Amino acid sequence: MSNQDVVIVILAAGKGTRLKSSLAKVLHPAGGRSLLEQVVLACAPLRARKVVAIVGHQADEVRKTIAAHDVETVLQQPQNGTGHAMLAAKRALGNAKIALVVPGDAPLIRPETLKALLATHRAGDAAASILSVVLADPSGYGRIIRKSETRVGAIVEDSQLTNEQREVNEINSSIYCFTLAKLWPALARVKPENKHREIYLTDAVAVLASAGETVLAEVAPDAREGLGCNTRAELAEADRIFRERKREQLMAAGVTIQLPETVLIDPEVTAGEDSTLGPGVELLGKTRLGARCRIETGSVLRDTVVGDDVTVRVHSLIEESRLDQGTIVGPFARLRPGTHLKSGARVGNFVETKKAIIGPGTKVPHLSYIGDARLGSKTNVGAGTITCNYDGVNKYPTTIGNRVFVGSDSIFVAPVRVGDGAYIAAGSAITENVPPDALGIARARQTNKKGWAAKKRREMAASAHAKPRDRKSQKSRKRRR
Ligand code: UD1
Ligand code: MG
Repeated sequence: MSNQDVVIVILAAGKGTRLKSSLAKVLHPAGGRSLLEQVVLACAPLRARKVVAIVGHQADEVRKTIAAHDVETVLQQPQNGTGHAMLAAKRALGNAKIALVVPGDAPLIRPETLKALLATHRAGDAAASILSVVLADPSGYGRIIRKSETRVGAIVEDSQLTNEQREVNEINSSIYCFTLAKLWPALARVKPENKHREIYLTDAVAVLASAGETVLAEVAPDAREGLGCNTRAELAEADRIFRERKREQLMAAGVTIQLPETVLIDPEVTAGEDSTLGPGVELLGKTRLGARCRIETGSVLRDTVVGDDVTVRVHSLIEESRLDQGTIVGPFARLRPGTHLKSGARVGNFVETKKAIIGPGTKVPHLSYIGDARLGSKTNVGAGTITCNYDGVNKYPTTIGNRVFVGSDSIFVAPVRVGDGAYIAAGSAITENVPPDALGIARARQTNKKGWAAKKRREMAASAHAKPRDRKSQKSRKRRR
């Protein structure tokens, strides 16, 4: 159903003083997105005539966080309260019949709940309908003061409660529907009579009720949907709930998660059946996992595409990379952006890669840096191999062919190419291309000095047994020689 007579107004101009932050409140993240973006996403399925966000504090950054969505913004300057914010939007709301108002700091609201509130508002032909929440601890929130079981008389802010009202535990979520033809005259009568000298949207409720208009309140099915993120603790709680929802979604899709409360998964991540995530794993950004993958303890994958049957062993960090089917990474590997492991390739412990294509079945098992490099298939790279890709000014590529055997502790001073089937002798500093099937060896030839060590030991022993004075004279004799 589309709601062409409805405009959605998202209140997002405030600073968020209680967060004690230089970042505007609605820009703080929960569940991998800014609070405001979460709210915008919850509103989209209603298909209202338009969505208007009221911006003010850090307006440019706030606009940026929702730039990808179809949202109009209105500047409220200065920010004189939630009622003042509505007045600032009056022109943008045009002749719509109903405004659905949602605060930018209530990220957990769900589309179904918004739809239900709208249905209640229409069915009751109300001037205002409030989404309320019943809380064990209602402190800090505006309270719903009912004048009968079905009708609301007022919303009273926490700072203005009488002792009797303080006992009320039904609170205002700040999510409402207003019939605009009735809201505007009521708001015109609201005065900034409170300690912040602001025009409160909540005060319009008492004006409407005392004029005999119908004001309804509907209790939200899940109290958490009304959670406003005014403090760091509330932000952490909202984030926890989003993460829990995401994990439950993946588990329902056939993913095993060990110690789920320790695993962090961003909203756009997908994972195939029978994949397993160990404790402390983070899957971030647009990461996609295939089926039957195993991501072990403490590994972090960001914006990485992973095929089927991939194993990432403990404590590996992988960013903007591709791991094809059957690859094995880690433990303790760092794959930087532009790494592509082709099927069956293996990158082992204490290996760092960057802009590196590692061919099918190729192994880089230990202690290496492979950057700006392309390795063919079935090549073996020995421990401690380094591609020297940087001369202090420019970066250069290293290209190594198929079935190459690279001995341990070799360095490749790029740009350099190694042909198919070549061998690189251990400890070589390769500065020139190596042809296919050749041996590249680039180190000083070894010489063994016969008896040298035994003679050295005898000299050292003699010097240790000599009297201190002799030792001194021995030394000076040596110096003279
Ligand atoms: C508000 C309600 C309170 C309710 C609570 C629920 C009022 C006066 N009080 O209190 O009854 O229980 O939400 O979370 O409305 N904003 C603007 N312009 C302004 C002021 C605020 O756009 O001039 C925006 C803020 O960015 C925020 C929203 O309005 O997203 C609510 O403001 P906030 O300061 O969080 O109000 P609360 O004190 O939480
Ligand atoms: Mg709030």
